[in-house]
Amino acid sequence: MRLGALLPFLNAGRWEAGVLGVAGMLGAETAGSSRQWIVGWDTGVMTTDSCLPSAGPLRIGPLTINTPVVLAPMAGVTNAAFRRLCREAAASTGFDPGLYVAEMVTSRSLVERNPTAVRIVTFDADEIPRSAQVYGVDPATVGRAVQIICEENRADHVDLNFGCPVPKVTRRGGGGALPWKTELFTRIVRAAVTAAEPYGIPVTIKTRIGIDDSHHTYLDAGRIAEAEGVAAITLHARTVDQRYSGFADWSYIARLKEAVTSIPVLGNGDIWCAEDALRMVAETGCDGVVIGRGCQGRPWLFADLAAAFHGTTVRVQPTLAQVAQTIYRHGELMIEHFRSTSEPDPEHEPDRGLELGALEASATTRTPQSAELRGMRDLRKHIAWYLRGFPVGGEKRRELALVSTLEELRERLDALGDAPYPEAADGPRGRAGSPKPPHLPYGWLDSRDLTPEWEEKLREAELSVDGG
Ligand SMILES: Cc1cc2nc3c(=O)[nH]c(=O)nc-3n(C[C@H](O)[C@H](O)[C@H](O)COP(=O)(O)O)c2cc1C
Repeated sequence: MRLGALLPFLNAGRWEAGVLGVAGMLGAETAGSSRQWIVGWDTGVMTTDSCLPSAGPLRIGPLTINTPVVLAPMAGVTNAAFRRLCREAAASTGFDPGLYVAEMVTSRSLVERNPTAVRIVTFDADEIPRSAQVYGVDPATVGRAVQIICEENRADHVDLNFGCPVPKVTRRGGGGALPWKTELFTRIVRAAVTAAEPYGIPVTIKTRIGIDDSHHTYLDAGRIAEAEGVAAITLHARTVDQRYSGFADWSYIARLKEAVTSIPVLGNGDIWCAEDALRMVAETGCDGVVIGRGCQGRPWLFADLAAAFHGTTVRVQPTLAQVAQTIYRHGELMIEHFRSTSEPDPEHEPDRGLELGALEASATTRTPQSAELRGMRDLRKHIAWYLRGFPVGGEKRRELALVSTLEELRERLDALGDAPYPEAADGPRGRAGSPKPPHLPYGWLDSRDLTPEWEEKLREAELSVDGG
């Protein structure tokens, strides 16, 4: 694709407002603004021939998403700052940016008004639609959490997480182990749908193929979800025992698509570039794609994805200096994000032991510096992802991994210099590991029914969950 073909989709106004975008990649400049991300056409964008989009708009209940692309919920990653970068990159193509799911909250923490949970379900004013993810094991608590989200107008979409592979969660029957108990699974889904229904908020679910190759759950989960009024289902095409290792087997997405016919089926697993996303749609017939690790340190992947699904071949390949600009903007957004929260700083814990009311009041005395430090600490892992494949020496990486102020960030990024986009930045990234037999409660697989003792044990599973 040539420059002229892209121009109709550009929105210069957005760029002037400081938005990371394809308009900027084409050379627009706003002197003095730290928000610039200026990528020259020659180095910043490559073109490819493989671009035949086949998925139409994604309809999730009353929501119509014209680009069938979803940012996967990732605990510790998909906060408001990161979602903004991804969303703006996609929007800068001129197309509908897609759907961006927040970090997961546990139903219990939301019901108890834990400040971290409240922060997670707080969205930027211009974030539309707002998408929250809830994890829970007790139907009543999940129902109450969804009701809180809806009645307080906190989100436009609620996803339920049934895919977490973390041993401390599955050991108690939670996460990806839960759909095995079909009756409990049904009650949780029903409670969420019932709570959201009066508000017209769609509820979706996200799950895995099953516990292991001998214990698949996805088809039952899909059929139950469909019957209970769920608006869409996402399948991460791995089993729990695979965790993040090996490869996602997309053929299961195709099978789910055949079994679940009245609601959209979204495919997830191992999409590393826009061409992978198009291939997943072509191979499985899925209605949309969900991207997790592939965008870690590459929010601009959403520009590629939006472009690809609308038939254009623009692909973003920023230089090191351009990546440094994005990192700096990410840092600014992180600080803004933590400045707007009443959440205690977990490292300093000045507020530990206070009642919630006192905790919120104490937030007014927090110094801007603590938001800066929190923002920088949270940014460090992103920096490592951003720099993947770029020729940056160990010492510079170490210094950036210890950054604690915006000023330090600026200085250390300036010291990086520039380099073209490296091939090594492409391909798989993020968490992988190796397969492990799932940790399950003793006798869990013997029956698909749940005894009352197990239901009690399960509640404990929610206390230690941290993503899936
Ligand atoms: C750091 C990290 C945190 C995650 N947290 C969640 C989560 O909170 N909820 C969830 O449903 N999945 C979570 N996942 C799983 C992803 O949403 C996604 O299903 C998985 O990474 C596979 O997609 P990918 O191959 O595109 O990464 C997490 C994954 C990672 C790597």
